[in-house]
Amino acid sequence: MPLTDAQIAARQAWVLDTLERRMSIVEGLVGNARLPLDWLGAQRQARSFLGYAGPSTRPSPDPLAAAFGDHVAALQAVEMQATEELSTVDPEALADARSRLGLRLALVGKGGAGKTVLSSTLARILARRGRKVFAADLDTCPGLAFSLGVPVTDAGLPDEALEEAPAAPYGWQLAAGLTPDEAVERFGAVGPEGIRFLGLGKIGAVDKDQARRSVAAVRQILQGFSAADTDVVADLEAGPTTPFENYHDFSTDVVVVVGPAWRSAMTARRLLPMVGDRRMTIVANRFRDEPDHPSLVPAIRVPNDPDLTQAEREGRSPFEACPDSPAVQAIGHLADLLLAQLASG
Ligand SMILES: Nc1ncnc2c1ncn2[C@@H]1O[C@H](COP(=O)(O)OP(=O)(O)O)[C@@H](O)[C@H]1O
Ligand SMILES: [Mg+2]
Repeated sequence: MPLTDAQIAARQAWVLDTLERRMSIVEGLVGNARLPLDWLGAQRQARSFLGYAGPSTRPSPDPLAAAFGDHVAALQAVEMQATEELSTVDPEALADARSRLGLRLALVGKGGAGKTVLSSTLARILARRGRKVFAADLDTCPGLAFSLGVPVTDAGLPDEALEEAPAAPYGWQLAAGLTPDEAVERFGAVGPEGIRFLGLGKIGAVDKDQARRSVAAVRQILQGFSAADTDVVADLEAGPTTPFENYHDFSTDVVVVVGPAWRSAMTARRLLPMVGDRRMTIVANRFRDEPDHPSLVPAIRVPNDPDLTQAEREGRSPFEACPDSPAVQAIGHLADLLLAQLASG
């Protein structure tokens, strides 16, 4: 069905509003930037928003072309300013700032590959090391809260955090005036060691209405979450569908989790192209001693570990139930690797 003129107008207004929200996030970062870490955050956020401003899906002739042109120019100016500021910082101070920059991490892979166990354990390990962590569950069959040890069952966004927006996916979005950082601060459930947690809504809810209503808002939060010093760890819904909808688009690092099964490797291979030019880290999970899947050589092998399965059966966080188990140790090495890669720029 072709769109009516009113629908087209609403959609254009929504796109312009989205661009304005993005600019105000970046302007806020620049306005408050004092330290090298602030400039690293502003630079990264401007680059990330530039990634959404490409002409890929817009019609031609494009009535929003001028607005996009201005938007891109403004983001490029911020990126240049940040780069200039950072060029005056001495190497030691810059390296120190880089080591405190938060991860923007998405975990993908076939259902059952171990995304939730890896996400939750990574989040707990990072938090235990004194880092600030925001963990997000984008699976409509959520499990991350339990696995983190967050004592909540319905850590979705409340109605006051949402507003109707007919042109947004599923007709809802983040409420006007609420920045992504504020949304996490105000509505994220607080877990162990101060981990902030947000999911799509009630665990086990029969009707997925709440999840649908919050999906655009949670994505806006991930895309615009700009606290430079906070690690973001997102557990994406199983299989290739979600990443192809670009739910990982906020990330700079993608962890592809591969189980020993042939089908798990097949799914992982399908996911590789969508990772694009993001940094990719392949993890073999439930590893015994089988040979690597062709073209999926893992950077980290997390052993198959009965303690983990047992923890899960008891509804406990693996990080608490078996902190010294080989699997949790291996996930600690994954944390080391991700942070080292991030710090190296
Ligand atoms: N390394 C491992 N050793 C043993 N069991 C594991 C391991 N990783 C995950 N599991 C178990 O496999 C199942 C699926 O893991 P999960 O993290 O929920 O996968 P996903 O989120 O990718 O669907 C869970 O029961 C979990 O406890
Ligand atoms: Mg899961």
